Amino acid sequence: MKKDFLTLSDWSSEDLKRLVDDAIRLKKERKEGKKHHLLEGKKIALIFEKSSTRTRVSFEAGMYELGGYPLFLSRNDIQIGRGESIKDTARNLSRYVDGIMIRTFEHSKLLELAKYASVPVINGLTDDFHPCQVLADVMTVYELFGTYKVKVAYVGDGNNMANSWLYGAAKFGVDFSVATPEGYECLPAAVEGARKIAETTGAKIETLRDPFEAVKGADVIYTDVWASMGQEEQAEHRKGIFAEYQVNDRLIKATGKKTYFMHCLPAHLGEEVTEEVFESDISVVFDEAENRLHAQKAVMVELMGGNK
Ligand code: CP
Ligand code: NVA
Repeated sequence: MKKDFLTLSDWSSEDLKRLVDDAIRLKKERKEGKKHHLLEGKKIALIFEKSSTRTRVSFEAGMYELGGYPLFLSRNDIQIGRGESIKDTARNLSRYVDGIMIRTFEHSKLLELAKYASVPVINGLTDDFHPCQVLADVMTVYELFGTYKVKVAYVGDGNNMANSWLYGAAKFGVDFSVATPEGYECLPAAVEGARKIAETTGAKIETLRDPFEAVKGADVIYTDVWASMGQEEQAEHRKGIFAEYQVNDRLIKATGKKTYFMHCLPAHLGEEVTEEVFESDISVVFDEAENRLHAQKAVMVELMGGNK
């Protein structure tokens, strides 16, 4: 049976922790200049229906470093853009490549692709979830603290990042408080699912309105853009709604302790975060970005064979 990487809820805590350990090892080996061609001769198709800097480059560079070959396919280059179904795309690509990553809009499209592909499918971001980012983020947290027993506070839009953090926190046993404005909450199924998982891992999952309440005692403050890809026309309207959720000096101080700042990027400075916080020494945003490379290499090796 092939295995996919669609949401963190599909994976056991044990397997996810092993992925982080693998990623840390691959990172160390890379820094030592060691080649790890664990996917020699393997190919991965990378379908992008939305823009990307980090996801595209980290998957392409990562596959190259593993000795394999990445194929970048934007929606305009392949027949999806002209209406060929996801189902047929899945069945065709499976005859050529050893794995497929897709960045798309509706989460249902990802599930359809995974259903009809006979090779592993990786979620490179949907409207609802971005598990590769949270795996890299959790790895960053582990590198900073040497434990998963910390508190992460997410303030802002209850979007794909927040939904994935709910599952990620629950699975890794990270305490997680999320503060969102009314009408911009996380997916109820993700909140409920995370609470259920947390019963077995001991994570505290808290959903709040007040960002100052959420960040109390937080070791990390996390935020994301107020208008995600596909919501560009709502950007101005959202600026008014989210103003209270900006990560600035005042919010950082409200943690009452030393806190790190995290963001999946790209960031809109002066909106969800001030330039002062973003550029300060508590900001670890580029470590998170780097860890996308290592975390995804671990995922590709796990899914697409090869001995680690
Ligand atoms: N964080 C992230 O996924 O970045 P990109 O949109 O640049 O891929
Ligand atoms: N929430 C953002 C994340 C980008 C990595 C978006 O979906 O645009």
